[in-house]
Amino acid sequence: MAMASKTMRAVQYDKYGGGAAGLKHVEVPIPSPKKDEVLLKLEAASINPVDWKIQKGMLRPFLPPKFPFIPVADVAGEVIELGSAVSNFKVGDKVVAMLNFQNGGGLAEYAVAPLTLMVARPPEVGPAEGAGLPAAAITALQALKAAGIKFDNSANRPPSNILITAASGGVGRYAVQLAKLAGVHITATCGARNVDLVKSLGADEVLDYKTPEGAALKSPTGKKFDAVIHCATGIPWSTFEPNLSANGKVVDITPTMKSMVTSFIKKLTMSKKRLVPLLLVPKGEELKFVVDLAKEGKLKTVIDSRHPLSAAEAAWAKSMDGHATGKIIVEMQSDS
Ligand SMILES: NC(=O)c1ccc[n+]([C@@H]2O[C@H](COP(=O)([O-])OP(=O)(O)OC[C@H]3O[C@@H](n4cnc5c(N)ncnc54)[C@H](OP(=O)(O)O)[C@@H]3O)[C@@H](O)[C@H]2O)c1
Repeated sequence: MAMASKTMRAVQYDKYGGGAAGLKHVEVPIPSPKKDEVLLKLEAASINPVDWKIQKGMLRPFLPPKFPFIPVADVAGEVIELGSAVSNFKVGDKVVAMLNFQNGGGLAEYAVAPLTLMVARPPEVGPAEGAGLPAAAITALQALKAAGIKFDNSANRPPSNILITAASGGVGRYAVQLAKLAGVHITATCGARNVDLVKSLGADEVLDYKTPEGAALKSPTGKKFDAVIHCATGIPWSTFEPNLSANGKVVDITPTMKSMVTSFIKKLTMSKKRLVPLLLVPKGEELKFVVDLAKEGKLKTVIDSRHPLSAAEAAWAKSMDGHATGKIIVEMQSDS
């Protein structure tokens, strides 16, 4: 199917900064897949904080590679055109994909997706639920693995007690469910309005981060943490340190220059307590792992809100506000 001459609706920005007001609705040519890519008619996309951080210029000069830029990488869609080297998917397949961060492209009716980060979407997983998974669930999985949790029961001495901060967010909610599947005792932090929800996902004890105990990260039952999956921001090492077990490790998915220095010093001084910065490295087999768990009903995507593509700026603003409960979804077909 030759789509090159046709156009599609998309949402893009043409400079750094500007937030939701910097997004513009445009009509642009439908992209063409390279030989190892497919063209997707998008059903849903999910916004991650990294998307607006790129717009803010936090990853310049690498991302975005040029302007204008159609943001967002996590999508679900239907395959409508195959690159010349694609043999393992066919037109009509429903998939979950993570688009190449260099290309972006998720806030649009169509996008090209790389084969390496695309898996079939089973009927048990809806488009919005599927689109919620890639970056957030794989980050949660990689953070738990970095904490020493194995998902094949092969760990020698897996952590017994872990703390997950910002457990109500996109990453935190998947982290709680994955840690529960691994059989770990979970302490979690979130705001008061989400305590019951986070418990229902599998947290054993939950702290409201706005209380003194929550701010101090003190386990209500006095547990010391073998690992912390740190998904919040602005918590110094001095708050973590007294709550860690002798070999406790903080896996920090929101590292700052200060935490990088702390991490380096802990390594240099051969401290048993460690701070490990983590940057997502997307892997196709891990995308399959989380989609399979979702299919089996073991990993739920909690949806904060759904927005049509025509109101993508509302979704963007919601993510920038920092108070999402789960994933913020843009649905392509809901206003066509
Ligand atoms: N390193 C990587 O590769 C990587 C990958 C993915 C994400 N990240 C980063 O990880 C962070 C989390 O991502 P996300 O998608 O989960 O974000 P998110 O969905 O926007 O997180 C929002 C949630 O965090 C809660 N929260 C905020 N501050 C908190 C605190 N101090 N203690 C407890 N809960 C708090 C909020 O609760 P209230 O509404 O009650 O305040 C809200 O429910 C972001 O900074 C993101 O950029 C990094």
